[in-house]
Amino acid sequence: MSTESSRAQPIVAIVGATGNLGTDISEAFLNHYRPHFPQVIAVVRDPTSANARKLADAGAELRQIDTTDIVLSFARAFTGVDVVVSAVSMAPVEYHDALFDGALKAGVKVYFPSEFGMNYHLIEFREYKEPIWDAKAQHVAHARELAQGKMKIIVLATGLFTEYVLTLMPPLNQPWFEFDAATLTFAFAGSPDSKLAVTAKVDIARSVAQLTLLALSPDSAVPDVVYVAGQNAIEGVSEEFGLERKKVTLNAADLESYKIAAREEEVRSGKPNILKHIKIALGEHKMDFSYNNNELVNPGETLWKWKRVEDHYQFGNTKYCFYEEVVKPWDTEHLSV
Ligand SMILES: NC(=O)c1ccc[n+]([C@@H]2O[C@H](COP(=O)([O-])OP(=O)(O)OC[C@H]3O[C@@H](n4cnc5c(N)ncnc54)[C@H](OP(=O)(O)O)[C@@H]3O)[C@@H](O)[C@H]2O)c1
Repeated sequence: MSTESSRAQPIVAIVGATGNLGTDISEAFLNHYRPHFPQVIAVVRDPTSANARKLADAGAELRQIDTTDIVLSFARAFTGVDVVVSAVSMAPVEYHDALFDGALKAGVKVYFPSEFGMNYHLIEFREYKEPIWDAKAQHVAHARELAQGKMKIIVLATGLFTEYVLTLMPPLNQPWFEFDAATLTFAFAGSPDSKLAVTAKVDIARSVAQLTLLALSPDSAVPDVVYVAGQNAIEGVSEEFGLERKKVTLNAADLESYKIAAREEEVRSGKPNILKHIKIALGEHKMDFSYNNNELVNPGETLWKWKRVEDHYQFGNTKYCFYEEVVKPWDTEHLSV
């Protein structure tokens, strides 16, 4: 299948390009996919920030957003742009909506909303109210209603970022998902056989770039929701992560009791806990991407090899896990595999 665009040189704009995932997405377009996208635009709020300067040094054109007339400002920033990728986080839903409205005004052809996680539409415990998922759902509904065939909207569901599964959450250095690599104890809500889709940020970035080419190609069809899973792991978690099974302890809490306790805690604290919601989703088998579009995005792994959880570890006498730029030694002797 040809992935040549109908236009010779499609232009891509990335919003949130200065962020955690946005940096990887920008790098994919600026490096590996540069021959297809000679012009890469990073739409930023502050072009003088260190990360914005790094993007400019790497060849991105910076365009600044003026938050006083935000829709017009986004529309101007997207002038001449074919594809908008949003990797924005922590912004109110109105910001995402304004970004989309600006893209529609500017005649953008393909839009990736800032999703890059699970398919929360499948979650059955929605009475729990997860503000992050609710805001994402509200934004995508807004965009789909207005796009009406004028723009292709691609929701890319990736599961968890591979980098986060076994790493520690600062500042207390607690495991994000009660998967404790130091003691090799993995706690589940429900069955430990639930599968967990994980995709590394660099592979999410390549998937976005590849899907962009496919979406612009006249002879290929891209679904509205695309699932990728660099690894669909956990069943036999030890082997999946390159660990010896006999050294691993799997704890399974009763799913219904876990849900009730999580709900009670939320009511008491007034704060939803997305980490617990993800664990419940995992227990309900909603993080299982056994069905996925990996073959559409990266047929037979001919374009790249999907990274796995164990690819993020340094093997030897000491094991390390990586959280952002910080390298933390793991205090365990169990981990020499
Ligand atoms: N599946 C997973 O495990 C997982 C994990 C983490 C994140 N995610 C998802 O991935 C996406 C990107 O997340 P991230 O962690 O990469 O984001 P991030 O680094 O926290 O932020 C991305 C960018 O958003 C912009 N931004 C931040 N606060 C803003 C505000 N108040 N108003 C407007 N813009 C703001 C900033 O760009 P500028 O300053 O340049 O404007 C920032 O660099 C999100 O959809 C997130 O939910 C998924």
